[in-house]
Amino acid sequence: MPTEAIVAHGLTKRYGKILAVDHVEMKVPAGSVFGLLGPNGAGKTTIIKVLTGLSEITEGDAWVAGFDVRHDPMHVKQNVGWVAAEVILDDDLSGWENLWLQARLQRLETWKDRAEALLKYFSLGDRRKDKVSTYSTGMRKKLEIALALLHQPQVIFMDEPTIGLDPNTRHMLWELIRGVHTEFGISVLLTSHYIEEADALCDLVSIIDRGRFVATGSPDELKSKVKADLLEIETTEPVSEARFRAIPGVADAKPQGKEWVLRVSSAEEVLPRLLSTLKPEGIRRINVEKPSLETVFLDVTGHRIGQEEGEVMDYRKFYAQMRRARQ
Ligand SMILES: Nc1ncnc2c1ncn2[C@@H]1O[C@H](COP(=O)(O)OP(=O)(O)OP(=O)(O)O)[C@@H](O)[C@H]1O
Ligand SMILES: [Mg+2]
Repeated sequence: MPTEAIVAHGLTKRYGKILAVDHVEMKVPAGSVFGLLGPNGAGKTTIIKVLTGLSEITEGDAWVAGFDVRHDPMHVKQNVGWVAAEVILDDDLSGWENLWLQARLQRLETWKDRAEALLKYFSLGDRRKDKVSTYSTGMRKKLEIALALLHQPQVIFMDEPTIGLDPNTRHMLWELIRGVHTEFGISVLLTSHYIEEADALCDLVSIIDRGRFVATGSPDELKSKVKADLLEIETTEPVSEARFRAIPGVADAKPQGKEWVLRVSSAEEVLPRLLSTLKPEGIRRINVEKPSLETVFLDVTGHRIGQEEGEVMDYRKFYAQMRRARQ
């Protein structure tokens, strides 16, 4: 196994006039969990498609599991697993039959021991003979991951592995994904627009916005780059930017919808000053945000990842995919 699971230089993908991936540099150490964090349309899925050889690279070079994606796509395909955001299971077959089908499709000769081990790892052993149509959403996702691991890949790509799942199931999957990496030594690249997911799961995170990597580092490194607290404030009467900026400790003030977002040196120090200064206008709501991947994202891109909006989108997208898959 090479020391790097994935390397990319100047990786670029155009769809006609759309620049979906824009000169990306990547270095994913073997045995790590790497996260691509970004909003809808940022280019996350496209990066997976070009790295797995499913879609042609427009410009630049990439190596996955030590193989050159442009010149040796067959070896790349043999050494990677892919968990798509779309559902790929056959509902009319049992869990075991889905594994059997996957083995047939990939022409695997010895797969049964591996399949047994995977069913055990994902606690699906006692439901192996049941049709997948009777599985819960979390069980389906686990089976999908098991299918992607059947041929013993070195690197697994997971496109939004917890999309549309409730928080408990999501947390259970986080454990299992971390386990895949620690127990089987497989490198993981996953995409997400959940900040907490990237924070909880990833050794390294690249924040992607409009096809470009805008920041890369461990979640802690990224958070430590933002040395400010954010205060979101909504007042009953309008307040001018100058009034905010005149308060000692306020580094920046930006309007965001009906609110203001203030960057402050320390929320604890600035809050009392803010409360006394804004007495006449009246404060409707204040929210204090300590550095998080969300604030890093806001800091480097100037906008939020749009998580709440994203979640509604998620469910729509997820059910649309389920419907398509079941037709
Ligand atoms: N086959 C395609 N043809 C044309 N444009 C495409 C194609 N696939 C993706 N794009 C465009 O490339 C850009 C990146 O899309 P991509 O699917 O990679 O985003 P994403 O980060 O995965 O978003 P999401 O979070 O919604 O899944 C978007 O502008 C999208 O419209
Ligand atoms: Mg996507």
